[in-house]
Amino acid sequence: MTDCQGDVEGASTPMELYEKLSEQGVKVRSLKSAKADKTKVDTAVQLLLKLKMDYKQMTGHDYKAGCPPSENDAAPNNGPAADVAGEDDTVDPWTVSTTNAKGVDYDKLIVRFGSSKIDQELVDRIEKVCGQKPHRFLRRGVFFSHRDMHQVLDAYEKHKSFYLYTGRGPSSEAMHVGHLIPFIFTKWLQDVFDIPLVIQLTDDEKYLWKDLTVEECHRFAIENAKDIIACGFDINKTFIFSDLDYMGSSPEFYRNVVKIQKHVTFNQVKGIFGFTDSDCIGKISFPAIQAAPSFSNSFPHVFGSRKDIQCLIPCAIDQDPYFRMTRDVAPRIGYPKPALLHSTFFPALQGAQTKMSASDANSSIFLTDTPKQIKNKINKHAFSGGKDTVEEHRKYGGNADVDVSFMYLTFFLEDDEQLEKIRQDYTSGALLTGELKKILIETLQPMIAQHQERRKQVTDELVKQFMTPRPLNFNL
Ligand code: TRP
Repeated sequence: MTDCQGDVEGASTPMELYEKLSEQGVKVRSLKSAKADKTKVDTAVQLLLKLKMDYKQMTGHDYKAGCPPSENDAAPNNGPAADVAGEDDTVDPWTVSTTNAKGVDYDKLIVRFGSSKIDQELVDRIEKVCGQKPHRFLRRGVFFSHRDMHQVLDAYEKHKSFYLYTGRGPSSEAMHVGHLIPFIFTKWLQDVFDIPLVIQLTDDEKYLWKDLTVEECHRFAIENAKDIIACGFDINKTFIFSDLDYMGSSPEFYRNVVKIQKHVTFNQVKGIFGFTDSDCIGKISFPAIQAAPSFSNSFPHVFGSRKDIQCLIPCAIDQDPYFRMTRDVAPRIGYPKPALLHSTFFPALQGAQTKMSASDANSSIFLTDTPKQIKNKINKHAFSGGKDTVEEHRKYGGNADVDVSFMYLTFFLEDDEQLEKIRQDYTSGALLTGELKKILIETLQPMIAQHQERRKQVTDELVKQFMTPRPLNFNL
């Protein structure tokens, strides 16, 4: 399987993939006619099927021998639009699942998405350029993949600044701890690089995708903005906007949306997002709205008419399809491609097979949970890598790689040495599951209580200020 994966990933344009498919078709036919060994034929057929799937994903239609892809099928040149990572991993903006208890295979995802790994060299470089100890999310591989981060740092070293863009789809009032990951990290980036930030609240997206009214989605956007503000963003450097509000008030933003819409075909979005003929046209055109904030002239109150200011987008890897599309369009409409930093998912309490979901109360720890609820949920639902009995656990030790409590600690426990000691003790059996859970409970309870305290201080007036288009501290 490994070498056939290698083959598939080598193709980054529809034409390359088409050529691989043709070759593979010939190979299968010749193996069959030579009555080759069954496993050999099976492997070749499997690869052929996989290539066909990738081709459909990339171009939006089936592969037909003798019919090469047309210009319009040109896929984003940032890698194949496939959304299948490991054999059973599904990662797209709407689904994250795997059969592996350790979670999604992120190294494979990097290869499939055609992004780059955040390796030690890059982490060291970020440390050097910003002059701060790298955030624990970088030290521990929570942010594990990137596009063009070296370019951003090269420019920054030459005193060419950049701006940050991230966002959230406000699908309910309830946010959980996993939702904070990109915001915690973005706040750190804002502080260490001293740069402006725009935060898009896609209330329009949630209206289009969910069974909610426009008013509900807009209200969720405002409520979520309070949790986001509570992460500590600097009001002088942060603009938060609801699409439903900002789209209609900013000609510059809408002009970019239209430019993007003109340069992406229905075939392409079908290939990238899997839209079908029965999806409403709002969904089909939405990716252009998520792409537009990647271009600095969408925010004239911050950047004037400058269209050349580099954008860096910290986001969870499931958002990458939007930005592969954005990066493909950018040079064609005269803008720089946004750079990206991708994070892993925050696992559900029940296990890393899926991400935490706000629609399943037992899979999540909400930002509104009381200390008691936090304790009960972790004790009751957090999937354990420990053994069934204390005797067995002492004898054989636990498995930290599949243990959700340990995984959560890698996100939230700041002290590297303490974390490593916990891992060793758990693995050796010296630390029991109940004790591990207790450490997690005692880490999360104060963290969430502090968040609630800060959120209480966020007044409607403050939300309004953050959401008003205005100049930010930025030297043009
Ligand atoms: N689509 C994202 C969601 O559903 C929200 C979003 C919009 C976003 N723009 C973004 C996320 C930029 C990360 C970066 O949550």
